[in-house]
Amino acid sequence: MDYFIKNIVSLLKEKIDLPEDEIKRLIEIPPDFKMGDYAFPCYTLSKILKKSPNIIATELSNTLHAVRPIAEIKAIGPYVNFFVDKVTLSELALKTISEERDGYGNKTLGKGKTVVIDFSSPNIAKHLAVHHLRSALIGNAICNIYKTLGYTCVGINHLGDWGTQFGQLIVAYKKWGNENTHKSYTVTDLNNLYVRFHQEAEKNPGLEDEAREWFKKLEAGDAEAKELWQHFKDISLKEFQKIYDMLGIHFNAFIGESFYNTMVEATVTRIKEKGLTKVSEQALIVDLEPYNMPPCLLRKKDDTTLYATRDIAAAEYRKKTYDFDRMIYVVGSEQKLHFNQFFKVLELMGYNWTNRCVHVDFGLMKFKDGKMSTRKGKVVLLEDLLIEAVERIRKIIEEKNPSLENKEIVARDVGIGAVIFADLCTKRNKDVVFDWDEVLNFEGETGPYIQYTHARLCSILRKYGKPVTTDIKFELLKEDEVIILTKNLGQFSSIIIKSAEFYEPSLICNYLIDVCGSLNRFYNAHRVLSDDEELTKARILLVDATRQVIRNGLIILGISTPDQM
Ligand code: ARG
Repeated sequence: MDYFIKNIVSLLKEKIDLPEDEIKRLIEIPPDFKMGDYAFPCYTLSKILKKSPNIIATELSNTLHAVRPIAEIKAIGPYVNFFVDKVTLSELALKTISEERDGYGNKTLGKGKTVVIDFSSPNIAKHLAVHHLRSALIGNAICNIYKTLGYTCVGINHLGDWGTQFGQLIVAYKKWGNENTHKSYTVTDLNNLYVRFHQEAEKNPGLEDEAREWFKKLEAGDAEAKELWQHFKDISLKEFQKIYDMLGIHFNAFIGESFYNTMVEATVTRIKEKGLTKVSEQALIVDLEPYNMPPCLLRKKDDTTLYATRDIAAAEYRKKTYDFDRMIYVVGSEQKLHFNQFFKVLELMGYNWTNRCVHVDFGLMKFKDGKMSTRKGKVVLLEDLLIEAVERIRKIIEEKNPSLENKEIVARDVGIGAVIFADLCTKRNKDVVFDWDEVLNFEGETGPYIQYTHARLCSILRKYGKPVTTDIKFELLKEDEVIILTKNLGQFSSIIIKSAEFYEPSLICNYLIDVCGSLNRFYNAHRVLSDDEELTKARILLVDATRQVIRNGLIILGISTPDQM
């Protein structure tokens, strides 16, 4: 906890010649709490003083005097280890949690700063499939993480709603779309039109030219082209919204690629004026050979713009509109080159904010074979995955707790929560391997396990039935299991800060697993509700604080927190 580290730093800085920040950075948490609560390694000093780190640790610990809240200081090998006063520790952590409640973990770190997060951003006229899940969930969690730290977050869905493929769709719709005008169109119909276009275009290459012509018209603002395109977009957005609602994900804005159509001209002009462009095979490019990258394409030979052109225009627009402190793109690793290319163009344009743009990439989502039934061919549709998760949890609840109230809602919260947790607990640059038995296990390192632990704590508090108070004897919270749990709870803020720094929601998942583990060890060793009124009051405060921390963590991840299950 910052409070103890601050005290340790002020003790150390009197005795050693290192800057305060450096001392703070070096402080570690020993792997075994019996070795101390914090440790200062002496390797850095050893290099400066040309003495062995063990000798420095011994000498240093002899000159330091423990004053509250530090209870003891001793050298262990090359480390100076600090033991904090346990009563201060629990009092501080539990009182803070109890005061700040849903806001616990809020820091002033991001006050006055804006973060733009570009996430989910699917292409319209196609179904959301499981590969779209990761960007949506990681992006949503990162939004919540930064919000928790006090940043203003702008979540943008940069819909893929522009490009030659819409020319293809218009051609297909005009040729074959009337075959079923009597019914309202769905994304499946649009998808089928695409497939048909590509089949027919193989036999009749002239169709591709027609498609390019239509996209050109669309870029030029042709009324018929626009009307059809808007129709496709409306159909897609309706379907997307249904899934975002299931996942509980909100965006501050849906600003798709099409929005930048009126701005790309000026963007291209600025790039040209900087002398960065070249014409190559009739296309307009920025040569990136000096940076060992293929060229960034700005305009095709038919004058239409590209994905990268629109991303450059979007970055300029967002800087102007939101004056962001940081802009985060949550997009799969397969687009790494695209981001490196257009970030380089922004840098060459002279924008000093380019280093505030980050591509937060991630691995794939894979299934253990045969565990997912698919409705339409090979891709697993996101909607099917979510429905199946809810169904499977419904069956488990039916077996375990058939009399549960609100079974439908709980099944939905736990089913969707299980999918979210399974995705987020994998380090983001690793592939997620999705296995139903693991994901839904109430006893594994899963969403249902964390939610179940939370619900159990709620049930203890219901049984207690009285208001929770911080007016307790903190010295009663003294057992090892209690201290470990309290320390865990106190680390919440620093975990959030770290997960923001590395754009890594999995750190919060692991943290919640740790907290639940500590809680269970405490719960198995000690009775919470007993005849000893003072002790019960003290342990109830600990139970309530644990419930609060688990709840806050789950909410950041985008997972619901049912209080019964
Ligand atoms: N629409 C793109 C796709 O589905 C992702 C867009 C990501 N965001 C961006 N600003 N390029 O692959």
